Amino acid sequence: MDTTTSRTDNTVLLQMKNITKQFPGVKALDGVSLDVKKGTVHALMGENGAGKSTLMKCLFGVYSKDDGTILLDGQEVSFKNSKEALENGVAMVHQELNQALKRNVMDNIWLGRYPTRMGIVDEKKMMEDTKKVFEELEIDVDPKQIMGTMPVAARQMVEIAKAVSFNSKVIVFDEPTSSLTEEEVEHLFRIINMLRDRGVAIIYISHKMDEILRISDEITVMRDGQWVATEAASDMDMNRIIKLMVGRELTNRFPPRDNPVLEEVSLAVKDLTGMYNQLDHVSFEAHKGEIIGIAGLDGAGRTELLETIFGLATRKEGSLSLHGTSITVDNPRQAVKHKMALLTEERRATGIFGILDIQANTTIASLKKYLCGGLLNHGEMKKDTDWSINAMRIKTPSQATKIASLSGGNQQKVILGRWLLTDPEILLLDEPTRGIDVGAKYEIYELISNLAKQGRTILMVSGEMPELLGVCNRILVMSGGKLAGEVDADNTTQEEIMTLAAMYV
Ligand SMILES: Nc1ncnc2c1ncn2[C@@H]1O[C@H](COP(=O)(O)OP(=O)(O)OP(=O)(O)O)[C@@H](O)[C@H]1O
Ligand SMILES: [Mg+2]
Repeated sequence: MDTTTSRTDNTVLLQMKNITKQFPGVKALDGVSLDVKKGTVHALMGENGAGKSTLMKCLFGVYSKDDGTILLDGQEVSFKNSKEALENGVAMVHQELNQALKRNVMDNIWLGRYPTRMGIVDEKKMMEDTKKVFEELEIDVDPKQIMGTMPVAARQMVEIAKAVSFNSKVIVFDEPTSSLTEEEVEHLFRIINMLRDRGVAIIYISHKMDEILRISDEITVMRDGQWVATEAASDMDMNRIIKLMVGRELTNRFPPRDNPVLEEVSLAVKDLTGMYNQLDHVSFEAHKGEIIGIAGLDGAGRTELLETIFGLATRKEGSLSLHGTSITVDNPRQAVKHKMALLTEERRATGIFGILDIQANTTIASLKKYLCGGLLNHGEMKKDTDWSINAMRIKTPSQATKIASLSGGNQQKVILGRWLLTDPEILLLDEPTRGIDVGAKYEIYELISNLAKQGRTILMVSGEMPELLGVCNRILVMSGGKLAGEVDADNTTQEEIMTLAAMYV
């Protein structure tokens, strides 16, 4: 695709000047300025809680800024709500999807602006318009499908289609790829390139360094609610971005892998087979103190493996044993009884009690532990919550803060802390560092390593190969629901893993 014409156009389309926003106990934005040029992709980076989403929500009318000015095409604007923003050419794909799950795709796209004919909703036109947008974006989704029945990735694509359907001049993507497969990421990038060629100004928020370096023209880094730097992406590299984000050099991305793997087998999985064929006779033994990575392409059955072990997905065949004794796990309750914990991939949708505070969200899975004579021991609950906040550097004014008011990445950390506190012997982690910034990732790796050193067994699924190679002792590679092979993390390469991953595709 030729993007030279649009990329040399230097007109600033969006100008945000000295934006300030205070929440109770947090100065989320402290005089932040941002210029975004027409026909460019401008990446916004920074640690969890740095203020990226808040800055964009001030633009989009979700939050009202306390101070500062916003110019769109040279005109001062101040949108009171997202409807006003959309009508004036600013669209945003949110970090947390907020869709009407009981309604169909088409309704979700046109909600609040249905085409009408003589006062009646024109279903036919709505269908045609939806199809037109989908065709243009090469999105293969039935406009009549009920939103709640679709996988998150498809719902994410609908949200993107909706943003595009407004013919916006500025489109904000707030961590759009966190639940997309590799193929879908490529698809999204084609859409973004097309929009860029049309002169749209795109703001792109992500923690995925390689994506940022690939797609963006300029990069702005924020730290603690302040602007730190704006530079051409071609002048940046990973180390420089990390240094700007974290405020110091991060010499090692992974802690030393010094957890001793013991002889004793903790969990043995034999011929595990799922009800719907996503899992096909998987067998392996996991040792005490071992960190096992699970690699594979999207759809290889990695999540199914964890969910079937945990009794969340139905098993057709196969058995589990713990320390040589056969165990029955037909549902998560039984799994928890056997000291297993599962951090799900979809934790934003399934794990967060939005109206509860951080302490409740942290302790909810271990309430039994705090029960003493029919009363909850609040002192212990407070102590454990403090541990979690400190261990992962969760950015929050207090334990009593509602989880919904934390930044996306910090919500993720709370949920991880919840499962660590259940004192699990077998810890199943599905994409544990998704949405987490580079600095905090290191802390999470350290926590994982410490748990292993205490003799626990960790199974972790990750799409990030360097993460698996950096953290795990051994890596199981899945392909088409089968175990294609296993490799020793010390003596393997990404190529070897990729070859195994492609075995049964
Ligand atoms: N509605 C709210 N009420 C109170 N505090 C909030 C609210 N929204 C955000 N904050 C706080 O503002 C700060 C910035 O949050 P923001 O969501 O902008 O971070 P972020 O850079 O998007 O992080 P992440 O990478 O984790 O998504 C955080 O400390 C957060 O807790
Ligand atoms: Mg955010």
